[in-house]
Amino acid sequence: MKKVEAIIRPSKLQAVQEGLKKANIPCLTVIPVKGSGLQKTYSERYRGAEQPMILQTRVMIICIISDENLETCINVVLDNAGTDSVGDGKIFVYNVEDAIRISTKVRGNQAIR
Ligand SMILES: Nc1ncnc2c1ncn2[C@@H]1O[C@H](COP(=O)(O)OP(=O)(O)OP(=O)(O)O)[C@@H](O)[C@H]1O
Ligand SMILES: [Mg+2]
Repeated sequence: MKKVEAIIRPSKLQAVQEGLKKANIPCLTVIPVKGSGLQKTYSERYRGAEQPMILQTRVMIICIISDENLETCINVVLDNAGTDSVGDGKIFVYNVEDAIRISTKVRGNQAIR
């Protein structure tokens, strides 16, 4: 199993979620986050004035998926989260030890599909 963390623009959340559902990846967790990427600081209009901003507002989508769904999941994010500009976000992939569906006590791949 894999964990995919996709940090994306909030405006792209709905498209990514719909894309995942269509790709038969319905389970996800979404967390509002703030962060910064390789650009150390950037500037945008905030409360009427141009100010240096340290943190960008993004959302993190977390999906625990089978190994076989990994490329599909990544491609859904790539196809739906981009604006062809900097700040579109990043995708991180981790190995997952186990998953347990509490209602049925089923473990592993069976717990996430
Ligand atoms: N290496 C990283 N570790 C943790 N979070 C990261 C990392 N890179 C990006 N992020 C998160 O992703 C968000 C969006 O990053 P962003 O897309 O601006 O990355 P970048 O490295 O600046 O690349 P780009 O040039 O495409 O903007 C950041 O605000 C931060 O929350
Ligand atoms: Mg950036």
